[in-house]
Amino acid sequence: MQHGKIALLLCSFLLIAPASASELSIEQRLGRQLFNDINLSINHNQSCQSCHSLARIKVPTEVKPGVFQLRQQASPGFVDTANVRNGSALAHGSLNRALGKLNPPSIGYAAFSPEFHWDGELFIGGHFWNGRAANLMEQAKEPLLNPLEMAMPDAWAVVARLKNNKKYVLLFRYLYGIKLKQIKRGDGEVEDAFNAMAHAIASFERTALFNRFDSKFDYEAAGITTYSAAEQRGADLFDDAAQCSLCHSTEGIDGDNSPALLTDFSYDNLGVPPNPQIPGNPAFDPGLQGNPNLEALRGEPSSSGEVEGRHKVMSLRNIALTPPYMHNGVFKTLEEVVHFYNTRDVLPQCSEPVDATHPGFGQTCWPRGEFHSTRNTEELGDLGLTQEDEADLVAYLKTFSDNYPLWGNSYGLKDPHVPKRSPSPFAGFPVPQLP
Ligand code: HEC
Ligand code: HEC
Repeated sequence: MQHGKIALLLCSFLLIAPASASELSIEQRLGRQLFNDINLSINHNQSCQSCHSLARIKVPTEVKPGVFQLRQQASPGFVDTANVRNGSALAHGSLNRALGKLNPPSIGYAAFSPEFHWDGELFIGGHFWNGRAANLMEQAKEPLLNPLEMAMPDAWAVVARLKNNKKYVLLFRYLYGIKLKQIKRGDGEVEDAFNAMAHAIASFERTALFNRFDSKFDYEAAGITTYSAAEQRGADLFDDAAQCSLCHSTEGIDGDNSPALLTDFSYDNLGVPPNPQIPGNPAFDPGLQGNPNLEALRGEPSSSGEVEGRHKVMSLRNIALTPPYMHNGVFKTLEEVVHFYNTRDVLPQCSEPVDATHPGFGQTCWPRGEFHSTRNTEELGDLGLTQEDEADLVAYLKTFSDNYPLWGNSYGLKDPHVPKRSPSPFAGFPVPQLP
């Protein structure tokens, strides 16, 4: 192709991009298009965006006591919008409405998860609830080939779809020197093209669209605004009596004057109850125990107590926008989550299987956890918090939602310290490089 033509096509590619994305690099724009491309699923009906939406999300909100309305929030939750709407835990795949096995987590700030590793004491980082993808690029390849998600049969089938798109042909050549049109089934270049695609998607996930750092929590940390009395009490409890920050770290990534991620990227078994609303009563997900890379990284096998039922400590950023909660989506509200941490070992164990719709759930009893014998009994379960403490913690968790300049000045709120369209106090904070 002549250079003139390449330049022209590149121009048209850049022109169709909305203005808000003007800071995206060419590779990140390619990544965005791939992230949104339903043609990369077997039935041309699903993209990454289907389960990790970038649209401002609508969340059921109590507008008057007992009255719920779907209310549009100021930012995306990077989850499946249907799950949030219905409280359903699992997402449908491309094929025959196949149902996944786990609750899709938010992927905002996922780019900060370090490469999966053993730090001498604990497994840290990686992606998925069990950390089986070492980094963001490895992660991006899985959903395309997962039969319960985008369900493409192999990397070649994906590359064959990429070949059909003129823009991809142009940009793969321009960015990676890969001539998509010339690749045939069985060529070594199939893998190269597949890896390049994953690199582009991962680059897109590193952009400010996923890593905004403009929650109330950020503006408070930067000394620009202050919490309400309830939020402040919640913040104190989070770091102290409720012990949340033991795992959901509130320390800046890079010391003071840097944002916190609200996770330490470790894995833990909270003794989360099963979710009987998951159809077909599947075997419980063993978390870290299902990760095939443990022994190789550690040099010796891990005992079941160290890995069984342990799931990734997800970031709590935007947590109010992403119900239901936990790897199996058993909790429908933040109130329930906090009440569980507080009373797991205080209330008796339920004598019959109950789900979250049962009036006794978390009120008169808690069901036995999925992996009861290996659960963490030291850092949660009997926190001694009052009802008001629980409510204050929830108020604090809500400060983790992005785009505070908008939500802090909507629905009757007004914050003169952070007017609409204020820049993030941590704008431009560096996102880790890709391998
Ligand atoms: C059908 C729904 C679905 C689709 C489509 C989908 N995902 Fe996911 N995603 C999930 C679920 C479910 C999990 C958790 C699965 C697990 O832990 O085993 C997940 C986990 C992730 C994670 C891990 C987050 C973390 O911090 O550990 C990332 C990143 C991610 N997805 C990105 C993507 C990208 C990129 C695509 C498109 C290539 C994609 N997803 C397509 C449902 C989906
Ligand atoms: C011992 C470590 C630890 C402590 C302490 C802890 N958490 Fe967690 N948290 C986790 C892990 C691990 C998960 C995911 C567990 C799972 O899905 O099975 C999680 C998940 C969550 C979730 C749901 C995340 C999602 O994406 O669905 C919320 C909300 C949450 N924690 C809030 C809190 C609060 C509030 C506290 C303090 C009362 C707290 N956590 C204390 C480890 C911890």
